[in-house]
Amino acid sequence: MRVLGIETSCDETGIAVFDNNNGLMAHALHSQIAIHAEYGGVVPELASRDHIRKCLPLITQVLNDAGLKGTDIDGVAYTAGPGLIGALLVGTSIARSLAWSWQVPAIAVHHMEGHLLAPMLETEVPCFPFIALLVSGGHTLLVEVHEIGNYKILGESLDDAVGEAFDKTAKLLGLAYPGGPALAELALQGEPGRFKFPRPMTNRPGLDFSFSGLKTFAINTLTANDNNAQTRADIAYAFEDAVADTLAIKCKRALQQTRLKRLVIAGGVGANLKLRQKLSQLMGKLGGEIYYPRPAFCTDNGAMIAYAGYLRLQAGQSQSLNMNANARWSLESLPPLL
Ligand code: KG4
Ligand code: ZN
Repeated sequence: MRVLGIETSCDETGIAVFDNNNGLMAHALHSQIAIHAEYGGVVPELASRDHIRKCLPLITQVLNDAGLKGTDIDGVAYTAGPGLIGALLVGTSIARSLAWSWQVPAIAVHHMEGHLLAPMLETEVPCFPFIALLVSGGHTLLVEVHEIGNYKILGESLDDAVGEAFDKTAKLLGLAYPGGPALAELALQGEPGRFKFPRPMTNRPGLDFSFSGLKTFAINTLTANDNNAQTRADIAYAFEDAVADTLAIKCKRALQQTRLKRLVIAGGVGANLKLRQKLSQLMGKLGGEIYYPRPAFCTDNGAMIAYAGYLRLQAGQSQSLNMNANARWSLESLPPLL
């Protein structure tokens, strides 16, 4: 079975073809960063319009790269939520229309299930069960995963998502949107130990997160010190260190609570090297295994949607001719595969 995947939930148009015999046959990504950068964040209406412009040309490009025609496609998978509703509707309507014209089934994919399954596109694939730490611009989730579609959310952010906290802190340090990777880069120049940021909500039981206080802590630290390049780098270092530590503490708790030994990291912030290092150290100490996608598949992409959609189509699931997109959609409400 050969599935075309379409991702348009936020500020990236991602297209891919996954095939059960050949694996990932082709994928392409168009980033809207240049469009949103001058506003310091994603402008939903501009995102929708750009998806409209880029989706079909990118689909043509990916089919050409894979040496395929539209009629070689056996199913179409699209991100139906969560995300920006206008952006989701672009991918949904294009996917549903192509599936209808090719007379093949279509499947609505949950964006966070896409992220969660992205490590399965690598050579080292995690076995079930595992704990997944999903860290993106919109979500921070600790999920107990027993099988595909059997997800129990153990913890989530009560305010800013991790990626959002990275982006907001980066902005106040004068870095361009999206600030996560730029902040990580700046942190490399930071002096360890000059500032110590709190590890929010780690001194009480539970697996929920709160990251908005770290941003306030960064503002206060910047105001109380000389605002120069070294201070900004030191703040970036302390912020990143605090975020990575906090996530590692909660992952350890989740693993101990569930007695599981495997950890999967995915989502945009999963590309962060400091976080990967801390979590690898943790799993080394606990004698467990850690899995993550290549950095390009941590951030939004069409490959994870094609793959998640393939699994569900293969299991006989598909969507009716109705077009459905959900800005909010719980991961826990997804059905199991069989
Ligand atoms: O998963 P993703 O591409 O989109 C959403 O589903 O939200 O995640 C994007 C987020 C942004 O907040 C971005 O700043 C952050 O991931 N990010 C990073 C890094 N790469 C991307 N944050 C920290 N370090 C990175 N290397
Ligand atoms: Zn995402």
